[in-house]
Amino acid sequence: MREPKRVAVFASGGGTNLQALIDHFNPAPAPAARVELVVASRAGIGALERAERAVVPFIVLDPREMEPGALAERMLAELERHRIDLVVLAGWLQLVPAEVVARFHGRMLNIHPALLPGFGGQGMYGMRVHRAVIASGVRVSGATVHLVSDRYDEGRIVAQWPVPVLDGDTPERLAARVLAVEHRLLPVAVEALAHAAGPAPAPVGPFCFDLLDAPAPPAESIRATLAHGAADASATG
Ligand code: GRF
Repeated sequence: MREPKRVAVFASGGGTNLQALIDHFNPAPAPAARVELVVASRAGIGALERAERAVVPFIVLDPREMEPGALAERMLAELERHRIDLVVLAGWLQLVPAEVVARFHGRMLNIHPALLPGFGGQGMYGMRVHRAVIASGVRVSGATVHLVSDRYDEGRIVAQWPVPVLDGDTPERLAARVLAVEHRLLPVAVEALAHAAGPAPAPVGPFCFDLLDAPAPPAESIRATLAHGAADASATG
């Protein structure tokens, strides 16, 4: 049996996506991946409480208090010490040092609460994203999981899930609708990456669940789609 991929989750806030990953992977009998480390950008955040409750090791590395070179060195040392295979940015607000991105090339994912490449980039986080989406007049927003590059919200898109923008939506209501989808999309995307072949897995093909408010297709069917390189009814590439 293959050892589960060891996942580090980077977070700066409440950590509900971290929780979705822990719930999906950690109690499973033979998971494809397991959350083995939480890196928080400051003390006292919800993500740390969640790590503690789930008995997942955690550390605080505050980019505002560290010189960039020292931050990169410390991150790499911790990721190595915990034998991390995959990194997931789940609400991590700062740019990850280029050395770390390079080391985890093709093995680092980020989740963004809109359909990239729209409504992303530096300064586009939290309610700012949802406010901009509503102000633009688009009728569809969503969640995007993408590989991390050395620029904000760029890098190959791995998975997207559309969410309708409804008449009279407030940023808060839209955010809640998108977040619910994030919690389902992120574990499936991490699972797909964990199943990709090789020690440094190739990017999984982009896929998009094209049914508004529909349940996510089972991970099995996504894996089968990726393995056979063909689109099926529930995932189109
Ligand atoms: C999510 O909306 C995610 O897309 C964005 O930051 C938020 C983090 O929320 N990058 P949480 O900390 O996982 O609750």
